[in-house]
Amino acid sequence: MAEVITVANHKGGCAKTVTTLNLGYALKELGYKVALVDLDSQANLTTCFGIDNPNSIETNIAHLMIAKIDEEPLPDKEQYIISKDGLDLIPSSIYLSVVDANLRLEMGSERILDEILEPLREEYDYIIVDTPPSLGSLTINALSAADSVIITVNPQLLAMMGLQDFLKTTKKIQKRINQKLSIKGILLTMCDSRTNLSKILSEQVKEAYNGVIKIYDTYIPMTVKVGESVYYGQSISEYCPDSKAGIAYSKFAKELISHEEK
Ligand SMILES: Nc1ncnc2c1ncn2[C@@H]1O[C@H](COP(=O)(O)OP(=O)(O)O)[C@@H](O)[C@H]1O
Ligand SMILES: [Mg+2]
Repeated sequence: MAEVITVANHKGGCAKTVTTLNLGYALKELGYKVALVDLDSQANLTTCFGIDNPNSIETNIAHLMIAKIDEEPLPDKEQYIISKDGLDLIPSSIYLSVVDANLRLEMGSERILDEILEPLREEYDYIIVDTPPSLGSLTINALSAADSVIITVNPQLLAMMGLQDFLKTTKKIQKRINQKLSIKGILLTMCDSRTNLSKILSEQVKEAYNGVIKIYDTYIPMTVKVGESVYYGQSISEYCPDSKAGIAYSKFAKELISHEEK
């Protein structure tokens, strides 16, 4: 049975999408069966997966959500799951922004994604959901469907600001919609170990949340290889096997599962 992990932080630019792809890739390399879900209408994860024109794909997560809202049956899995080198993706497109608007008007709509993922759980070990940079209905759906959430924090972006709002929303979802949701931990991304500011801000996050939320020992270093891998629609390890960031994501995947085995 798959664990559904949502990667979230309502700020943009804190490596949610890069983390979803590269954590998924690293877990796949460790032998797990992994599906990624792009729940952002910007479809960055879909592009990072190597799909140049997300709009050209006939069936994506938006179509599945609309079908669920209309209580219609879903198409066959083959129509909406894209596989590449043993990693699966449910893609997105700009059409998801229409769903976002519809969800707000629909009663009980928080559980739509959960309903879509439920039958897929038995086929995977991990389903990892990438979320948009907002605390809107799509992120709420992703948290409602999840067993756990990884919060990516970019220390450059004054990481502390706004994290409280995110945690408040998570608590409400735990209380009202999804009691099984747990906060898995904070992953520090885009860390520039050469700058003092990055160090100071990382320390600030640790001081504020250590003991309350797990902060992973592994952190993801900043490297230009990441941007290049995104451009070429590949995981970092595929694009540049000895890149520090790819090695860090692989280490992170191992750290993640080691906590589960305890
Ligand atoms: N470790 C890293 N080193 C350098 N650039 C990174 C790293 N992680 C992410 N980036 C870049 O930062 C930008 C934001 O990352 P992204 O994953 O799209 O963030 P989000 O999904 O949270 O908005 C992208 O341009 C990406 O290429
Ligand atoms: Mg993103």
